[in-house]
Amino acid sequence: MAKKTLNDLSNLGGKKVLVRVDFNVPLDAEGNITNDRRIRGALPTLQRILDAGAAVIVVSHLGRPKGDPKKDAPFRMDRAAVRLGELLGKPVHKVDEVVGPSATAAVQALKPGEVLVLENLRFHPGEQAGDAAFAAELAKLGDVYVNDAFGTCHRKDASMVAVPAAMKGKPRVVGTLVAKELDILDRLLSNPPRPFVGILGGGKVSDKIGFIKALLARVDRVLIGGAMTYTFMKAQGHQVGSSRLEADKLDLARELLALGKGKIELPVDHLVVEKIDAPQTARIVEGDIPDGTVGVDIGPKTIAKYSETVKQAAIVVWNGPLGKFEDEPYSKGTKEIARVLSASKGITIVGGGETAEAVEEFGLAEKMTHVSTGGGAFLEYVEGTPFAALAQIDDK
Ligand code: 3PG
Repeated sequence: MAKKTLNDLSNLGGKKVLVRVDFNVPLDAEGNITNDRRIRGALPTLQRILDAGAAVIVVSHLGRPKGDPKKDAPFRMDRAAVRLGELLGKPVHKVDEVVGPSATAAVQALKPGEVLVLENLRFHPGEQAGDAAFAAELAKLGDVYVNDAFGTCHRKDASMVAVPAAMKGKPRVVGTLVAKELDILDRLLSNPPRPFVGILGGGKVSDKIGFIKALLARVDRVLIGGAMTYTFMKAQGHQVGSSRLEADKLDLARELLALGKGKIELPVDHLVVEKIDAPQTARIVEGDIPDGTVGVDIGPKTIAKYSETVKQAAIVVWNGPLGKFEDEPYSKGTKEIARVLSASKGITIVGGGETAEAVEEFGLAEKMTHVSTGGGAFLEYVEGTPFAALAQIDDK
């Protein structure tokens, strides 16, 4: 069922609009934002509401705080609020409370055209508990609810489900970012052009079972990379040296290999090292990975083979880096495949936090058809999981 969007709202002037965004951005050890893509992604929605003469109350979670004020300090929303202000080109108010007297007072003082960021939703235990009383408090703050948090749409946190439920009767729509993600993914996955190629990397097979199965049902070919390679190789009876693998998931890997017979391609060569922190020991091996070595990236023959498949594809969906790309000496496979993808004439969809970050880091994001802001949400959407958060948005 199509959902109402910002386009369906009129007379926003003077309203207070509660916008759930996903500002769950990567942070360094000091809490500095290392990639602001998700903040930039929400700008069209926020700008549009401001231009319509409304005030915006921005709510988001950030990280996975544990309820320890000292350890949780980097997860405060202050830096995200500052970054948002820089991007919007205007000061943004920030209040150190999620709900309560100071949040309410800050909302009351908010004038049309102004922006207020509330504290990290996950500082309140009611958020992840989906608590109705907490949701009611939040719901009271806004005249309109906008879900522009695609990256969180697979969660049932209060701000995603119970808050819009509590705002029934008031307008509840998706923002520009969510509308765009849903539109592109629906359009491309419902009737994809052929050949349809999936590229699957990352660490764990077990994290992506549903996604792998959904992909196998749709694609003509799946190219495997990343540490999950070694679990698949081991399941086939190959040696993998000391490479990272999920030793307890070999049956699952066998099941997936059987399901993907004729579709799944595994790397034919590998970059291996004696120790992760010893890039000077790097060498290329074909077939099995010898004892005393660790696989860290796909090898040159695999890069060439996968590149050919990608070049022939009418659509490629990519999730998960193909090697330990965050260490420069091991980033070649991920970088090369990203480069080939960016030059492709076909449709290119990149999903998943790490994959999107890699593509951004290489300066190639703008050259892809679509880089999703969703990590888990992207996987679950492609898998076909219904999102309770979207069920709460008004139907067209
Ligand atoms: C994400 O980064 O996938 C979303 O922001 C959800 O975060 P979570 O996995 O901590 O719920």
